Amino acid sequence: MMDPVRNPFAPGAGQRPPELAGRDRELAAFDVVLERVARGRPERSLVLTGLRGVGKTVLLGELRSMAVKRGWGAGKIEARPDAELRRPLSAALHRAIRDLAVRHRDPERVEAVLGVLKAFALRANPHGAKLRERWQPGIDVPAAQGRADSGDIEIDLVELFTDVAELAKDVGTGVALLIDEMQDVQPDDISALCAACHELSQSGAPLVVVGAGLPHLPALLSASKSYSERLFRYVLIGQLDREDADRAVLAPVAREGAEISAHALDALFDASSGYPYFVQAYAKAAWDAAPADPITPEDVAMAAPEAETELAVGFFGSRYERATPAEREYLRAMADLTEGRDEPVGTTDVAVYLGKKPSSLSPARDNLIKKGLVYSAERGRIAFTVPHFGRFLLGREE
Ligand SMILES: Nc1ncnc2c1ncn2[C@@H]1O[C@H](COP(=O)(O)OP(=O)(O)OP(=O)(O)O)[C@@H](O)[C@H]1O
Ligand SMILES: [Mg+2]
Repeated sequence: MMDPVRNPFAPGAGQRPPELAGRDRELAAFDVVLERVARGRPERSLVLTGLRGVGKTVLLGELRSMAVKRGWGAGKIEARPDAELRRPLSAALHRAIRDLAVRHRDPERVEAVLGVLKAFALRANPHGAKLRERWQPGIDVPAAQGRADSGDIEIDLVELFTDVAELAKDVGTGVALLIDEMQDVQPDDISALCAACHELSQSGAPLVVVGAGLPHLPALLSASKSYSERLFRYVLIGQLDREDADRAVLAPVAREGAEISAHALDALFDASSGYPYFVQAYAKAAWDAAPADPITPEDVAMAAPEAETELAVGFFGSRYERATPAEREYLRAMADLTEGRDEPVGTTDVAVYLGKKPSSLSPARDNLIKKGLVYSAERGRIAFTVPHFGRFLLGREE
């Protein structure tokens, strides 16, 4: 038997894969961004977009490590629908300032910026909130006054970003703010973020915002600020091609001193279509199912039901659970219409199929978008954000 303890594969949201395959171009591009921004050169930042489970969170984490290795201050946020940005942003920048403080020679300057951060953070409290109900940001300095605390998020962001970037400039580096699930940032906050980035890039301040989100994120950003296309370089994160998918499996197996046959790799690619989450899930199950080294196509076949059960719970099910009955009906109609293929469908086709008025279905559709289960691929068309979701729905017993 293959030792299950040594199984290297890591299916799971945000789980670092044993081999980060097929992302060399993105890593190299970010290297250039870091280098240019630290030198005050104009440079567009990256926004990673892609379907569920393609590895956006993992890649964002990797970019963060790259920044930290170069002595940058870095902080990460996961945006949530219906939550304001101010609080998580304060925490992320607090993290970034602490990274920078280690290398900074003037503790008083660091404290001054922390004071501005605290003033910014305290503004997250609603007006007139009672003292004991007030959120305390956990920053151990007195709050500054008159900077980043106007309550207007756009003004405050520009002031805060400028001060934090200044601190990074002192040590010859920069600040990276990483925002995951960026499509969930509220419209006011998105527009303020774009405006602040725009302003900072014009003054050559070393701060970059790196975003990750679902495929419709670029459309959201352009709708918010027309110049966002000049601020961000959109990088589509997708399936791994055959070579990279093989590498994602081969390299970790080899590192454990084990082997896998070429035909087993064929079978794995058939099952995963190169989607990173599926690559991890099927490879993990195949390792556990293999009675001996090397892993064979028969092992992959044996393991498939186990992998699919895991996916049905951890990948598909956890998302399906979030949908109401009306929303599930909508999803099901999309699956029927596409016959389980990962393709967009017309919203009017869904209405016709369900025998309902399009307007009566808008709430279900809007909520599904809000929950991140579907996205508007183009005007009047809608698609699953979760690869193979249609196939999963068709295979479910009702
Ligand atoms: N380049 C890669 N090579 C191999 N496996 C990867 C790669 N990137 C991600 N994975 C694996 O894919 C899975 C999903 O990764 P991750 O959670 O980053 O996806 P995501 O795009 O953020 O998904 P979601 O939209 O659901 O948040 C994880 O199990 C991870 O280990
Ligand atoms: Mg993610």
